[in-house]
Amino acid sequence: MVQPEDRLAIASQDIGRINAFYPILPRLGNRWAASRPWEGRTLALNLHLTTLTACLVRELTIGGATCVVCGANPATTDPGTVELLRSEGVDVYTGGDLEDPHLQVLAHEPDLFVDVGFGLLGSLLDRRPAIVGKVRGAVEITRSGITALRGRRNVPFAVVNINDGRLKDAVENRHGVGEALWQAVSRLTGMHLAGRRVAILGYGPVGRGIAMYARNAGMSAEVVESDPVRRLFAHYDGFPTPTLEDAVRRVGVLVTATGGHQVVGAAALAKARDGLVLVNAGHGGDEVDVASIKRSADRVDHVADHVVRYRLEGGPQVVVLGGGHPLNIVMNSGSPEPVLLHYAVLGLTLELLAREPHPPGEKLVPDAVEQEAARVALDALNVARVHDGPA
Ligand SMILES: NC(=O)c1ccc[n+]([C@@H]2O[C@H](COP(=O)([O-])OP(=O)(O)OC[C@H]3O[C@@H](n4cnc5c(N)ncnc54)[C@H](O)[C@@H]3O)[C@@H](O)[C@H]2O)c1
Repeated sequence: MVQPEDRLAIASQDIGRINAFYPILPRLGNRWAASRPWEGRTLALNLHLTTLTACLVRELTIGGATCVVCGANPATTDPGTVELLRSEGVDVYTGGDLEDPHLQVLAHEPDLFVDVGFGLLGSLLDRRPAIVGKVRGAVEITRSGITALRGRRNVPFAVVNINDGRLKDAVENRHGVGEALWQAVSRLTGMHLAGRRVAILGYGPVGRGIAMYARNAGMSAEVVESDPVRRLFAHYDGFPTPTLEDAVRRVGVLVTATGGHQVVGAAALAKARDGLVLVNAGHGGDEVDVASIKRSADRVDHVADHVVRYRLEGGPQVVVLGGGHPLNIVMNSGSPEPVLLHYAVLGLTLELLAREPHPPGEKLVPDAVEQEAARVALDALNVARVHDGPA
């Protein structure tokens, strides 16, 4: 059993390792230590509570911010990260005390917000309208959150959309998730991936990256996509594009990356290949409809942490990894670099929001911010030295 102090030490070591090999955030933190862009400001962050988020919170605090943090999903919350941030004086709300983490964060009346999935901003608008007038601006970082934002009318402050910038799609959504997801699958199942047949549901940037990395790992990948344009993209990228019904009969692994709700449930799996492994990469926890699978199961085996096998009544066995939550985040797998890059974009955007007032509504992340983040990233990668040969 890992003790709280051990968890904290493990998280702290992880942060040391991350910053040693890719010091993008400490480089920005050095600047922010001098300029203190968030002096006197309260920043609310609703993010996955991993060590990567702790790296970000540290540098924002160095820049003068009072950070108030809550976890976007209990399944992706790392207890060591929570202990570490609390030991550094950061208020972190996880819902563990049965209180509502959003309301606890909002009680601090923050000036600036960072959200993944629009959960905290939704709570602000619906449940604490009295403090909305104080808000200077917000940043939303993922597709599901942007979709939720666009479903709202008259949001009375600026929300910067980082997801649709040039960097997030190309680096984090595609390479970050693609690499990390398969690493998590290997770690949990011990499967060597080459030669396996896999279907990816959804061919947005996330699904496309997962398909690309599946191919690179020697898997035989197929794509199920409801949008004819993206289905055609998948076809010309060289992936077969079967129907879901057809795919589940043949493939050994099915990955969801649609951002939808309950897109694969017990009914769709009735004719699945026996032993089909179900993995989710989308934002929510119900894209694989685990509730319907549980209801239809006549036997459940807890094979290992994050690995549960269900025997569907009169049908096949299926295995759900990570409880249907985004597996790469549950496992904190893959290279930290893509997430840290978009955290750099996020930090530079918060700097801009603190410096200049912005008109209300959605605003695409400015190109100048992405250019600057890319320059710091190249510097952190020490690209010139790599290209020039060994030092
Ligand atoms: N796991 C992570 O670390 C991570 C990182 C970034 C984004 N995300 C999340 O991943 C999800 C996908 O992101 P994206 O940027 O690729 O989104 P996107 O909206 O660009 O692409 C989703 C695709 O899924 C397709 N789709 C929707 N429902 C479908 C269905 N029932 N069957 C087949 N296809 C269907 C859509 O047509 C679309 O092409 C979002 O929820 C996003 O928030 C996760």
